[in-house]
Amino acid sequence: MKIIMLGAPGAGKGTQAKKIADAFGIPHISTGDIFRANLKEGTELGLKAKTYMDKGELVPDELTCDLVVDRISKDDAANGYVLDGFPRTIPQADALTNALAARGEAIDFAIDVDVPDENIIKRMSGRRACVGCGATYHIEFAPTKVEGICDACGKELILRDDDKPETVANRLRVYHEQTQPLIEYYTNREVLYTVDGTQDIEKVFEDIKGILGK
Ligand code: AP5
Ligand code: MG
Repeated sequence: MKIIMLGAPGAGKGTQAKKIADAFGIPHISTGDIFRANLKEGTELGLKAKTYMDKGELVPDELTCDLVVDRISKDDAANGYVLDGFPRTIPQADALTNALAARGEAIDFAIDVDVPDENIIKRMSGRRACVGCGATYHIEFAPTKVEGICDACGKELILRDDDKPETVANRLRVYHEQTQPLIEYYTNREVLYTVDGTQDIEKVFEDIKGILGK
């Protein structure tokens, strides 16, 4: 099962992708998480990506597409995967479509988690991310058992650098300009499904399971 998560920054793509990956036993592949992990390790890719991420701009396609095509070619992705944060531009979607077509494959589901802009800022300011495993929480909507500590790995939680309100506003602008056109792209390929992302986390997941037939 090959799944793409679409939606604005903070719509809940990562939250739902993780639940899908756990339920279906497929890897959760987040380009944002890959860039952040590279930055933590101090790699050249991580340092390059940071200059764009901190401004709320997209990392250039040439740094992104090969990375994802390589990742989905690994053994653990043989039965499918859930892509979170990729594709984000039409050229990225074309690169993915072409790489899959070369193997006689295609995306099965593109799930758009729909949340209006006015809900996003509140989501972002309350989000906390684990420095260790990247798990995502919310101080109000998805709290940890012990404040400031990751339930999954016990490491410390932080507010992401790009979750400052002014950077969030730019990420939303970039989303509408460059990523929203993918809704039409996948509608045309008859794999687009929309869920109401303003519902609580479990209800959104129920709707997604309905779409995925589980
Ligand atoms: P990325 O890490 O992908 O960030 P994003 O798209 O901006 O999305 P977020 O991770 O901020 O939000 P999300 O939708 O995953 O929401 P979450 O589940 O955390 O990308 C970061 C940057 O990397 C980009 O700006 C770009 O620079 C670069 N990049 C990455 N991929 C790229 C690519 N392909 N090409 C170029 N550049 C790329 O939820 C948000 C919060 O809300 C959490 O606190 C959560 O607990 C809470 N929440 C979730 N669902 C609900 C709900 N239903 N109700 C209430 N609260 C909820
Ligand atoms: Mg995310």
